[in-house]
Amino acid sequence: MTDLRPSLTAPATELRHDGLSIALHWAMLAAVVLTYALGIGREAVPRGPARDMVLLLHISTGLLVLAGAVLRIAWHAGRNGFGFRSPPTPWAGRLAHLGLYAGMILVPLAGLVAVWTRGQAAPFFGIAELPQLLPTNRAAAAFLAEAHEVLAHGLIALAGLHALAALVHHFVLRDGVLRGMLPRFR
Ligand code: HEM
Ligand code: HEM
Repeated sequence: MTDLRPSLTAPATELRHDGLSIALHWAMLAAVVLTYALGIGREAVPRGPARDMVLLLHISTGLLVLAGAVLRIAWHAGRNGFGFRSPPTPWAGRLAHLGLYAGMILVPLAGLVAVWTRGQAAPFFGIAELPQLLPTNRAAAAFLAEAHEVLAHGLIALAGLHALAALVHHFVLRDGVLRGMLPRFR
């Protein structure tokens, strides 16, 4: 009798993410790493206009992360109804992706609300700004700045684990998970 189950030794099926998801994924990697580096590097810059400029750039690229995360979630919701990937992803992967999305929203949001409750507007590359939409509250601002920092470290740690998992898939498990997120050049 013919065994209809797929053979375990069959080559991994090449399940690919769609073009927009792939483009946004790698653009967001660059934006998250740059924003984090600017946040950390700010302390090394002497106080004054240069440090203010680093904070302005940090806030601006951070707002891009927030906008990109909202766009990605909207795109997923429209396509997959929050399936996050049309092909099945195991629970550990789903949990990690959920955590990454939560971080991409909560980290910039905590930063934004910290800026507002400090009594400031959020600048965007010096060409626009998000006006202060909440009343000034110094205690809330201090708490949110702290939460922002802790959550940012958590997001980067999770992203590191996630990248490591992708490499394990590619080099150890030798399946098509990483290839599914890479652009096709041809
Ligand atoms: C994914 C996006 C973001 C990441 C990964 C991130 C990460 C960080 C990090 C690592 C720091 C340094 C904390 C420290 O050592 O003191 C920082 C500081 C800061 N971030 Fe962000 N950030 C992001 C988005 C934003 C956004 C969107 C805003 C505001 C609209 C913002 C506002 C700030 C401010 C005001 C500080 C200085 C806090 C202080 O005075 O201690 N960040 N951020
Ligand atoms: C070198 C770094 C990275 C590598 C190699 C990598 C690799 C991958 C791969 C292979 C997938 C597909 C997983 C699957 O099909 O189940 C994926 C999905 C995903 N990655 Fe990454 N990633 C990296 C960095 C990041 C960063 C920095 C973030 C966000 C902070 C991120 C967020 C996500 C999310 C949310 C998904 C779920 C699929 C989607 O929503 O489009 N990744 N990543």
